Amino acid sequence: METRRVADILKNGQPDEKVIIKGWVRTKRALKGFAFAEVNDGSSLAGLQVVLDGEVPEYETLLKKINTGASIEVSGTLVASQGKGQKIELKADSAIIYGEADPETYPLQKKRHSFEFLRTISHLRSRTNTLGAVFRVRNACAAAIHQFFQDKGFLWIHSPIITASDCEGAGELFTVTNFDLNKLPQNEQGQVDFTQDFFGKPAYLTVSGQLQAEVMAMAFQNVYTFGPTFRAENSNTSRHLAEFWMIEPEMAFCDLEGDQNLAEEFLKYIFQFVLDKCPEDMEFFNKWVDKTILATADNIINNEFARITYTEAIALLEKADKKFEFPVEWGIDLQSEHERYLAEELFKKPAIVTNYPKDIKAFYMRLDDGEKTVAAMDVLAPNIGEIIGGSQREERLDVLERRIEEMNIEAESIGWYLDLRRYGTVPHAGFGLGFERLVQFMTGMTNIRDVIPFPRTPLNADF
Ligand code: 4AD
Ligand code: MG
Repeated sequence: METRRVADILKNGQPDEKVIIKGWVRTKRALKGFAFAEVNDGSSLAGLQVVLDGEVPEYETLLKKINTGASIEVSGTLVASQGKGQKIELKADSAIIYGEADPETYPLQKKRHSFEFLRTISHLRSRTNTLGAVFRVRNACAAAIHQFFQDKGFLWIHSPIITASDCEGAGELFTVTNFDLNKLPQNEQGQVDFTQDFFGKPAYLTVSGQLQAEVMAMAFQNVYTFGPTFRAENSNTSRHLAEFWMIEPEMAFCDLEGDQNLAEEFLKYIFQFVLDKCPEDMEFFNKWVDKTILATADNIINNEFARITYTEAIALLEKADKKFEFPVEWGIDLQSEHERYLAEELFKKPAIVTNYPKDIKAFYMRLDDGEKTVAAMDVLAPNIGEIIGGSQREERLDVLERRIEEMNIEAESIGWYLDLRRYGTVPHAGFGLGFERLVQFMTGMTNIRDVIPFPRTPLNADF
């Protein structure tokens, strides 16, 4: 007899089929002479209802051990269910308990727990309905992303996690060292002597795989990264993590407009894919987490994103009959309140803002004519704010060298990057999508800590 997954049985199971299932007990209800147990194996939101009666060997002992959280194997026959709520259930012939869960101490008893509490038990929280649905949707998002790019002939490239360059230039780097921190070697100037460190120079956890993606795009034309990135940003918000996953496509022979087109097509594709793959989980979010989430998905898929320049965005913000905490004037970096006003209140859909002032953006962005702005774009999403950041890259060697000097970046350390402009340079563009912000946007989960299995944030690296 074959072991089947619960999702498959709920979808395809037929009365009289003999099956084995393995999973964890969610609930038990004992009546006179028989009992119901709901068993969940993570394959779907709904569990399978199992009916046990006195004919099951060692029924009385089993019944004591079948408690919420216990792991169980049941073999039996599928029968049409008499009860409401499910079409099919499993009439047990026999059952084995692999591991018991003491009802006195198992933290996930049948009641609603706060997300704050669940974070303190991140090793168990995936067994709840909400976190289970989150991680299935997260998986579907990842599958959608690979499918989208693979269908388009983009190469998945693996950018390094340890790097010597600060791509974003924001100084939010975690240092990687194998020095004994209590005995740091010093040079003659009294500074830490990194020539004695593992890599012979300072090294960091990457904040972005973009620079390496640019290298690969100059050989393969279209590439994408999908991996973890790290930022030592001391932002304790519901949208920042110190370790998050990023997807970074990079396209040769592409300009800012092509970049915006790809970003829009990409987000639409992911939403549609997840709706098709996880309808039950998405219904769940719509019912219990955010009642607008299905409407939002529909809005994303069926409407064009708004597209405005930064200068237009500033004018709209100045006209807004709303008091912002951070005053608006040309030159400021948009704050989350500004981003959300534009996407949520004004456009009521995602908005792509382009051509930001050069002084608030990274060195690699292409300088616009007039030299006040750069060919940057941010995609702002309702409820989230910035979900994507990207740009057309500066492909002109002389301009890039000038920008690097203006911004006090050490040119020697990125000679290899300048080589890309020296040998066969082409216009190119790309963007970075924050994976956890995408999952938040998709599910309506308000805190980013609840869409990644083990969140890393200031003062927290548990589990
Ligand atoms: O806008 P960012 O900093 O852009 C880059 O890193 C570029 N190198 C991307 C590129 O052009 N290839 O980051 C990109 C996205 C943001 O829009 C946001 O969604 C996410 O990464 N992000 C974070 N997500 C969670 N926690 C943080 N601390 C994040 N910082 C950025
Ligand atoms: Mg950004």
